[in-house]
Amino acid sequence: AIERTFSMIKPDATKRNLTGAITKIFEENGLRVVASKRVWMARREAEAFYAEHKERPFFGELVDFMSSGPTIVQVLEGENAIAKNREIMGATNPEKADEGTIRKLFALSMGENSVHGSDAPETAAREIGFWFSETEIVG
Ligand code: CMP
Repeated sequence: AIERTFSMIKPDATKRNLTGAITKIFEENGLRVVASKRVWMARREAEAFYAEHKERPFFGELVDFMSSGPTIVQVLEGENAIAKNREIMGATNPEKADEGTIRKLFALSMGENSVHGSDAPETAAREIGFWFSETEIVG
């Protein structure tokens, strides 16, 4: 089925001017960018967005990093978009990511891993709603 998923191009990638290169990979794999904006998130926004991880040992590091520079938040649409995007991104740990995936190509570490993508339909709905209103999504 045609799905929507939420994606972020993280500060390590925007800093290295990889916004276009990463977006091109989404497009080449059949995903369409139906919403996109560049945001420099506040610490509070990063804490709220990643609230499910607040008990994790890396939470402070994650919030510091995500509020350290610009991020591109996007909604991607396509056949099986949620799983497709996870496949294109590769494993969270770039050392474990498959050849040709975004994280294998660009990620620097587990934290500075260039992209985020929703892991399930419920998460996608929440994450899209966190950053976008319905009128900002143009299919
Ligand atoms: P993301 O998909 O954005 O969801 C949570 C993020 O936490 C994850 O990608 C990683 O970038 C980050 N993360 C997960 N594990 C670690 C870790 N051990 N150290 C630092 N960051 C981590």
